[in-house]
Amino acid sequence: MKKIIPADKASSLSRAARILRRGGLVAFPTETVYGLGADASNPRAVARIFEVKKRPSFDPLIVHVASIQEAKRLWKKTPALAEKLMKKFWPGPLTLVLPKSGKVPDIVTAGLPTVAVRCPRHPAALALIRALGRPIAAPSANPFGRTSPTAARAVFEDLGKKIDLILDGGPAAVGVESTVVKIGRGRGTLLRPGGISLEELRKILPVSFKKKKTRGTFESPGLPESHYAPRTPLFLWRGPVAGPPRSPRVGVLSPAVLSPRGDLREVASKLFQTMRELDKMRLDRIVALPVPEKGLGLAIMDRLRRASAGKWMK
Ligand code: TXA
Ligand code: MG
Repeated sequence: MKKIIPADKASSLSRAARILRRGGLVAFPTETVYGLGADASNPRAVARIFEVKKRPSFDPLIVHVASIQEAKRLWKKTPALAEKLMKKFWPGPLTLVLPKSGKVPDIVTAGLPTVAVRCPRHPAALALIRALGRPIAAPSANPFGRTSPTAARAVFEDLGKKIDLILDGGPAAVGVESTVVKIGRGRGTLLRPGGISLEELRKILPVSFKKKKTRGTFESPGLPESHYAPRTPLFLWRGPVAGPPRSPRVGVLSPAVLSPRGDLREVASKLFQTMRELDKMRLDRIVALPVPEKGLGLAIMDRLRRASAGKWMK
């Protein structure tokens, strides 16, 4: 049987839901990146996600729901601010972290007392959650620490042999992961910049953000300093006009090439796929030019910084 099947067919969705119900793993499209899904109420299925991704057991997963109602059942209480954020940004690339209810198995949250929940915007993701009739736990569908997949093909190359099915819903529209916000009393803490900008969030609530996370902070356990990395060493580069050295072989990841009209949304949507393509070219290094850290630029620079583990090319 085929492993990559079109996400927009009813027969694909029922096959995928059947696999999830039996404790299997299905990769599915979301508007941000492809997710590797398991039935969130099945601890053994969720354990397989950790195995397949080689994800450390202290790194909690995001639970995907199809409605605000469904999210509320996963949290102990839903503060008015969270409600406001969900109404404004869902379905969409915003993940909210709040104290969890008894409905969430500990393995999903890596033992934390909170759970991260989001409602994705891709119609196939919503349809899959509805077909299963339960929330889906899903990290990005890549081996831990590597570049996130924005196409079904990329999932197949990385994890194809280890998972049960891949739903192909076309290229991910946003291209960087969701924004993760922890909700506290009357305010939020940005744990990961993503598809919804800090500026947009701050129109609704005060949000604090420490760009330089102190080492060993376990507030967002899945954010080590090196992440999203291609195999080819990647460096950030301030880009003198002369251009990077021609030898050794250097690939340039340039925002101006990804979006000649300077649209950061276009840059984000092509970022991970371009990293993957450069990674296949047997280069000695990749150099990435920075973008201004405004709007989506904050998420783009976060990914580039981690992909380079903070290394700048002199
Ligand atoms: O866009 C996305 O969010 C994608 C798609 C598939 O939905 N998912 C995704 O999941 O990026 P993942 O597992 O690659 O990243 C989840 C991030 C990690 O940094 C994790 O540490 C953090 O969310 N996280 C999850 N639960 C948390 C919690 N209870 N408290 C703090 N951080 C949490
Ligand atoms: Mg990830």
